[in-house]
Amino acid sequence: MPDFIVTPWEVSGEIDYEQLIKEFGIEPIDEKLLFYIKEITKEIHPFLTRKIFFAHRDFKWILDEYRKGNPFYLYTGRGPSGNVHLGHVMPWIFTKWIQDKFNVELWFQLTDDEKFLFNQSLSYEEAYNYSYDNALDIIALGFDPKKTFIFSDIDLAGTLYRSALKIAKKITYSTIKATFGLDNSANVGQIFYTSIQTVPAIIKSLIEGKNIPCLIPHAVDQDPHFRLSRDVLPKLGYFKPASIQCIFLPSLQQGGKMSASIENTAIFTTDNPEEVKKKVNTAFTGGQANAKLQRELGGNPSICSVFKYHFMLFTLDDNELKTIESRCIAGDLLCGECKNNLIQKINKFLKVHQEKREKAKDILDQYLIKEKIDLKKIISDKLKKV
Ligand code: TRP
Repeated sequence: MPDFIVTPWEVSGEIDYEQLIKEFGIEPIDEKLLFYIKEITKEIHPFLTRKIFFAHRDFKWILDEYRKGNPFYLYTGRGPSGNVHLGHVMPWIFTKWIQDKFNVELWFQLTDDEKFLFNQSLSYEEAYNYSYDNALDIIALGFDPKKTFIFSDIDLAGTLYRSALKIAKKITYSTIKATFGLDNSANVGQIFYTSIQTVPAIIKSLIEGKNIPCLIPHAVDQDPHFRLSRDVLPKLGYFKPASIQCIFLPSLQQGGKMSASIENTAIFTTDNPEEVKKKVNTAFTGGQANAKLQRELGGNPSICSVFKYHFMLFTLDDNELKTIESRCIAGDLLCGECKNNLIQKINKFLKVHQEKREKAKDILDQYLIKEKIDLKKIISDKLKKV
């Protein structure tokens, strides 16, 4: 039995990503692929060189098509079950980089339906409201409003349902049980849900009336959904969606990923400077019991959550990161100084993010799309005709 779990509904334990590559059948992003990306983008994002985005499906095909003049569009998503934390923001920063480098559209799905169905304590209204709240964080990252379409599943239900039906008919209950580990206690919405998450992978093809390649940046736990999409969509005459997949931002405490539900493991985009300070100062580190020992023996960055935050988000300059690492190992950099450095960087990021998040409230309409169905009006229009 592995001592970790990675499914769309549960991520826990010390994750072995090499093993996931084998288990899921995804491809590692190797040097050859990095070289190919760089040929097009001219520079390479540290999330790629650091293997934070570490695996893919058919990404090379996406680049081949792009070079032939057949551009792709991006599709990603968020399950709006609460406030957004830094672990969520990380893949979106990368998604924006791809949007900028390739100048392509992004379709951003907010799965309020999913969160309502899977989270027993979340009401329909709460999930729907979180869609609108979380959209502010997405907009704050600066996606191009002309090329970015954000939607709540509830708001776009009609369009999504029409295609989800065709997808659902190709998926058996036993496939759902095997892919997601759902059992007889699952509600029927949970069994159907993955059909909805597949639709944005063909939404541009539906609009344009011809097949358009789709690239999905996502955290590796979502791969089971898109494995199914890749199985079903060709049967309906569409391309398989390609994907590029990232690891999880770890918890600030020992083990596991940043979690919205476990206190002090995550930093939320709405945290104030004092909260950030408190969380980082109580984080799990690779430090020794006291300063004297640390000077003698040095620290251990490879198990340190503070170092992981430098590595994954806040010290993207390779030389600066190396200095932090070697000074820590040498016992020259103590945890207090290293934590302060991180606290300052996080608070600097959050200050800007929170300002942009406020401003996003005024420009929500530039990004959100929804179907407005007014049944009362439709009926009165109909009655006028008879
Ligand atoms: N199911 C995802 C979640 O719970 C949300 C999501 C929907 C998503 N579509 C996606 C994530 C596409 C990544 C890519 O968070």
